[in-house]
Amino acid sequence: MRTTIEDAGKVLAIDTGEDTMRFHAVWLRDNALDPATRDPGNGQRLITLADWPADTRIAMATTENGTVRVNFSPEEKDVAYELDWLRAHRYDRPKPPRRLPDGLEVWNDTRDPIPAADLTDLQTSTAALGTWLAAAARLGFARVTGVPAEPGALFAIVDLFGHVRETNYGRHFEVRSEVNPTNLAYTGLGLQAHTDNPYRDPVPTLQILACLENSALGGDSTVVDGFAAALRLEQENPDHFALLAQHPARFEYAGDAGVTLRARRPMIELSPDGQLQQIRFNSRSTAPITDVPFGAMETYYAAYRHFADIIDDPAMAVRFKLQPGEAFLVDNTRVLHARTGFSGAGTRWLQGCYADKDGLLSTLATLAAQEHSS
Ligand code: FE2
Repeated sequence: MRTTIEDAGKVLAIDTGEDTMRFHAVWLRDNALDPATRDPGNGQRLITLADWPADTRIAMATTENGTVRVNFSPEEKDVAYELDWLRAHRYDRPKPPRRLPDGLEVWNDTRDPIPAADLTDLQTSTAALGTWLAAAARLGFARVTGVPAEPGALFAIVDLFGHVRETNYGRHFEVRSEVNPTNLAYTGLGLQAHTDNPYRDPVPTLQILACLENSALGGDSTVVDGFAAALRLEQENPDHFALLAQHPARFEYAGDAGVTLRARRPMIELSPDGQLQQIRFNSRSTAPITDVPFGAMETYYAAYRHFADIIDDPAMAVRFKLQPGEAFLVDNTRVLHARTGFSGAGTRWLQGCYADKDGLLSTLATLAAQEHSS
């Protein structure tokens, strides 16, 4: 391993023997790991940019046994970095832009088998929980079996990784036929694949639906990978993809007394570097779209219809009939869910609740770190 100071101290190049990694002096100083910069206990940064000079340079650098020691001027401050840490955080490499965030896997109707786990196994085995959470994070969808077919049992699924997100629909909501329903979900109508609550900002990032009864004719559930649908849209027509990504749509719900929820967000939301971030798609709660320029509106509607056609294509959907004691979880920022219509003969009773993905990902990362260290 050899280091070279470049560009008058603004850049440090580290030749590892296999390749060269470059880091800027300002980046290294900001990310110093010494106890005066970062709290050794919680890892949080103790200083701000104003606490070190803007003209920070690397005055000297040495290497020894996998450690790089840097002296910064004008502070005359020494900081040590482990090579493994530098390698894990390197940014000096060509990054081909990928639409799909790292670690995700897109799917369609060929997805088999659907990841599923027994609730008791998830509660008693961290290995089973880790595998199930990893599948949920990677696919945005996972099933649970062995859930007691009784009211409130769905909370045990949320307890595996996080907290319920309560909304105006309550801590949980009942999905069964109602007279004069406040939401079309509470009827026997079929529901086109959708993401829930696009009129919230932020949306609930996870939804859990658990089945208590399903003796009605029909009432099958389907899930569609919205990221797979968006990638297909871009492949079939890049202009259509761009229109849905670049213009905000509008969503609204005002079906309950005292509730008026509105959001102005695109149907396909990208991060600033172009990665798929979130899908919002829900024909029931799409409000008049007023943020598309007049000259683009017809093409925008063609794009919207194209996206809907892809979402409705049975080849995109995984279909199943939820049985009492079964539940599923979807990443509501990515995966759309639907149900076929069902008849009044027999009963279909589901309970749903929302939770948040940060808790799921946090539990997954914590379990992975434990496994790594054991
Ligand atoms: Fe829904």
